[in-house]
Amino acid sequence: MDFSFTEEQLMLQDVARRIAQEKIAPSAEHHDRTGEFPLDNIRLLGENGLMGIEVPAEYGGAGMDPIAYVLAMVEVAAGDGAHSTIMSVNNSLFCNGILTHGSEAQKQKYVRAIAEGEAIGAFALTEPQSGSDATAMRCRAVKQADGSFVINGKKSWITSGPVAKYIVLFAMTDPDQGARGITAFMIDTDKPGFHRGKTEPKLGIRASATCEIEFQDYQAAAEDVLGKEGEGFKIAMGVLDAGRIGIASQAIGIARAAYEATLEYVRDRKAFGAAIGTFQMTQAKIADMKCKLDAALLLTLRAAWVKGQGKRFSNEAAIAKLTASEAAMWITHQAVQIHGGMGYSKEMPLERYFRDAKITEIYEGTSEIQRLVIARNETGLR
Ligand code: CAA
Ligand code: FAD
Repeated sequence: MDFSFTEEQLMLQDVARRIAQEKIAPSAEHHDRTGEFPLDNIRLLGENGLMGIEVPAEYGGAGMDPIAYVLAMVEVAAGDGAHSTIMSVNNSLFCNGILTHGSEAQKQKYVRAIAEGEAIGAFALTEPQSGSDATAMRCRAVKQADGSFVINGKKSWITSGPVAKYIVLFAMTDPDQGARGITAFMIDTDKPGFHRGKTEPKLGIRASATCEIEFQDYQAAAEDVLGKEGEGFKIAMGVLDAGRIGIASQAIGIARAAYEATLEYVRDRKAFGAAIGTFQMTQAKIADMKCKLDAALLLTLRAAWVKGQGKRFSNEAAIAKLTASEAAMWITHQAVQIHGGMGYSKEMPLERYFRDAKITEIYEGTSEIQRLVIARNETGLR
């Protein structure tokens, strides 16, 4: 077993770290306070290959592997959680599915624009009445005699929905078939029949814009189908396996930023005549934070490694996402506690890390859904 990274992986990590520390982290407080979408920074990430890390160079990407994706995501998330949400949707949820299931024309048209940072992508599975229970969707695509489809329905909580040019949409084409009646479509948001709702005000990752979207007699051509008719749910699940590696990496980045700030604070802050880092109760917290951070990173790298081998990695991705998101919640909570009143203050980033970490336990499958996936894989029972 080799725990070292390649030169290319380290180079990409370095590029991501530089942009995160020089451009993203300094404006994170502003983006969190105002909720302003960080378009310039997203373009900069795109220009540096960070919006299509696993996308081959022929489609405008960096042509790197899943390990490089983990390393880069961790760095960007350590700079700001919201930026890493936008990055993760573009990389994992948008580009991944099209690369695996798209036609050559779809790859050229949609992947290139997102990978080069010229446009922003989105992934629309959730609906107002169906989140965890994704097959209970009602958005309907009705096939016409000429092979085209007419789409009607709503999707909720769509990350980058307010700004996306293209969306991977999942809609029911044959409700009698349940999961096997779902089809994936490529949506152009400039076409008639596509509407956006208000941007959601959120607890954390506030600069990542999220909204409801609605389709009213949206016309999708036969060539807008991604993969085959009826295969949409499997496409969504496969894409989410990859997405969960991204969210695990995001959780690690947010947690690492909180941990590093804490290390500095416990050395400087004095109480009862000593640095608070000399108290055994603080030391126990520091040791537990470090163990959880390293465990999360190793499990996430394992999931990325299995993905890179071309094997099924659903279980490894769910284990990584569950472990990393719960570690991030615990670590950011302890980081606030160790900072005392300053942990609660908006003058320091600790309270933001704490708010940003929470989303990693909810989206791309809640912690309960990760446990369900892991237990089903482990027991073979349903
Ligand atoms: N890969 C490929 N196929 C898969 C799969 C996977 N990982 N998981 C399931 N499938 C297949 C099954 O084999 C089955 O196929 P057959 O019909 O051929 O048997 C089919 O999909 C249906 O599977 P299940 O019966 O297991 O489906 P289920 O209804 O029990 O649901 C679930 C399973 C794991 C709970 C799933 O619904 C799920 O993951 N829910 C959470 C939804 C989610 O993560 N949403 C995220 C939205 S995107 C987002 O959140 C983005 C963001 O924040 C930035
Ligand atoms: P529900 O499914 O209603 O769950 C409510 C509670 O019940 C949860 O605690 C859940 O774990 C629990 N529960 C449900 N089923 C079970 C079960 N079988 N066993 C045990 N417990 C269960 N979706 C997209 O499609 N695209 C996006 O880009 C996107 N971005 C998002 C961004 C944000 C900021 C947020 C908050 C959400 C986003 N989502 C997106 C939606 C997200 O994936 C869902 O919120 C999530 O999957 C949970 O669904 P729900 O909110 O409907 O909760």
